[in-house]
Amino acid sequence: MTSSLLQNRQLPWPTNWNEIFGRSAPLIIEIGFGSGHFLVDLAQKRPSANVMGVEISLPSLEKAQRKVKTLGVQNVRLLQSDARYLLQALCQPESISEVYINFPDPWPKAKQLHRRLINVDFLHLLATRLVPGGLLDVATDHADYALAITEALEGTPYFESRLPTTFVTEDNERLRTKYEQIGLDEGRTCHYYKFARCETAVPQSYPILKEFPMPHAVLQSPLQLDEIQARYGRWQYSHNDCHINFMELFRARDDEALFVEAYIKEAPVAQRLGLVIRQREPGNYVINLHELGFPRPTRGVQLAIGQLATWLVSLHSETEILHHNLLPDALEPMRHAA
Ligand SMILES: C[S@@+](CC[C@H](N)C(=O)[O-])C[C@H]1O[C@@H](n2cnc3c(N)ncnc32)[C@H](O)[C@@H]1O
Repeated sequence: MTSSLLQNRQLPWPTNWNEIFGRSAPLIIEIGFGSGHFLVDLAQKRPSANVMGVEISLPSLEKAQRKVKTLGVQNVRLLQSDARYLLQALCQPESISEVYINFPDPWPKAKQLHRRLINVDFLHLLATRLVPGGLLDVATDHADYALAITEALEGTPYFESRLPTTFVTEDNERLRTKYEQIGLDEGRTCHYYKFARCETAVPQSYPILKEFPMPHAVLQSPLQLDEIQARYGRWQYSHNDCHINFMELFRARDDEALFVEAYIKEAPVAQRLGLVIRQREPGNYVINLHELGFPRPTRGVQLAIGQLATWLVSLHSETEILHHNLLPDALEPMRHAA
């Protein structure tokens, strides 16, 4: 049996799930499967579907993996990821048949509310990835989160309830999850939502990120590495939805290169990676990406290399870029984020 646990960085944007499962079948996703009890049961009850479980917690993944292995369930795969990443980066528009979200973390404190998974933006993203008529089942035992979910679902034009009401507070047909049992034992009311994606067209506002060839820029400059190092200071750069934080600068052991640690955020991806300024011969530098951590060469990485090259050029009037493979706007004048 192939391993059920998928390696996130080996999955292309988007991923062909039929290839991963080795057959063409409707795709069902459970988000935040916890112990994996519901997920494995779902896969067993629906042998003709491809069932994906996504979780951020490694212990949960390991627990679920053991269950899948022990029971020999073939039609389930597990992924350690934020659900938003799975949906936006790995799933084609209109490719998912059903999504289950059981007892999502409620983040009850006011300053944590932005961490809640289900909101208007998330429903829009989900609507782009579900097939028309695709199903969304949600359950929560948190009264305040239930209010927010009710409001978001009632407000979205992309979903309609499959029940006569927005939610019900009893559902004896579903398999009880661990957090459902805790909620019931502690006397809380559970809210169960069963929605379907309407036929209404959904604006495709969540494009799949592109990968570009590994970026590089070659420069000539009379500056020595020491001088470049001395002139460096942390800075931030933002362009549309891409935010780059140029952090620490380190000198390589062999003395021939500088490493700039960068944090690049371009939803739904955030990468912490190393940009390298290497002296190939006196006065000749190449700027590229360090391969440590298998970075993905996104538009944000192109912008980061471009901004570093632009910064180098700004240090000395005789510094110039000889050649590069960057996008045209990656070499715009340097911009500092507010
Ligand atoms: C309260 S637990 C519920 C677990 C299980 N569904 C149940 O009902 O017993 C919420 C789960 O969602 C996972 N989770 C939270 N945010 C997530 C995200 N953005 N993507 C995927 N999983 C997430 C957590 O790690 C946790 O295991």
